[in-house]
Amino acid sequence: MPSLFGAYPHARPRRNRLDANTRRLVAENSLAVSDLIWPIFIMDGENATSEVAAMPGQIRVTIDRVVDHVAPAVALGIPAIALFPVTPPAKKDAEGSEALNPENLINRAARALKAAFPDVLLVGDVALDPYTDHGQDGVLRPGPGGHYVDNDASLKQLVAQAVVQAEAGIDIIAPSDMMDGRVAAIRAGLDAKGLIHTRIMSYAAKYASAFYGPFRDALGSAGALKGDKKTYQMDPSNSDEALREVAMDLAEGADMVMVKPGMPYLDIIRRVKDEFCVPTFAYQVSGEYAMIMAAVQNGWLDHDKAMMESLMAFKRAGCNGVLTYFAPAAAKLLKVS
Ligand code: PBG
Repeated sequence: MPSLFGAYPHARPRRNRLDANTRRLVAENSLAVSDLIWPIFIMDGENATSEVAAMPGQIRVTIDRVVDHVAPAVALGIPAIALFPVTPPAKKDAEGSEALNPENLINRAARALKAAFPDVLLVGDVALDPYTDHGQDGVLRPGPGGHYVDNDASLKQLVAQAVVQAEAGIDIIAPSDMMDGRVAAIRAGLDAKGLIHTRIMSYAAKYASAFYGPFRDALGSAGALKGDKKTYQMDPSNSDEALREVAMDLAEGADMVMVKPGMPYLDIIRRVKDEFCVPTFAYQVSGEYAMIMAAVQNGWLDHDKAMMESLMAFKRAGCNGVLTYFAPAAAKLLKVS
């Protein structure tokens, strides 16, 4: 880029900001409904919903309500929905066996949604934490520190979990477990079953973050979690390491990559996009949503403006799309504007 000093002595950048149409014309990035993936929570039971305390506006729904729950978002053109289960405690065990049940909440919800909306992409999170009684993303074996999440024993479960999800109609498998080698293992497992079209969006750079708190409450996995996830999720101080994680996941066959959380890690998104030029997503996680909503409820932030600015920031950082609990609200606003 040429030095601007002296080259444009009469430049007046404000001319390009003069009115709405000029600003639209010179805008470098844009946000569209096609950028939005909406994560939703599925719970057990019949004809019921419940509010997620720390995520105002987000609810858990039973399977018989899921089609009605997403219908307005689908009508607005949202291309993809991500499904998360609230597994009843009685169905949790140390190995996360319920994750492999073709009749679990996710798989039943996937079949219901596919039947109603065949074209809407379904994203299935692959990790064991919604299903384990200890709340870790993999299985525990004796090892360093006592509760050690064993990588290769976890891979077996994760591959089986991915296969049952794909068989239930999940279009995009999204491994969020951060085990080494999971993308290659899942790709091989899917291919061996002929599930060659199932895409993989890997949570490639997923940090051990405090911002997942409200999500763990939504799933009921917060109380269960013993310890933390620092032996597999990334250290927030690292950035080069994120590029190595992304490079490995791509080499293993990931079709799309994700950075998570979102707003505190915009620098990582930019580095990933610049380095690899692949479809890159961010997860604007539960804690980010909660922060904005809490301020909105206090009258300290404007809901629509804060939401749209936060989502545009992801586009500016290089994202192709965003997983966000704001998806329906943002879609509504984008439709009318
Ligand atoms: C499961 C998973 C988590 C999130 C998505 N998938 C929680 C965690 O890793 O503890 C967090 C999403 C959010 O906070 O919105 N591995």
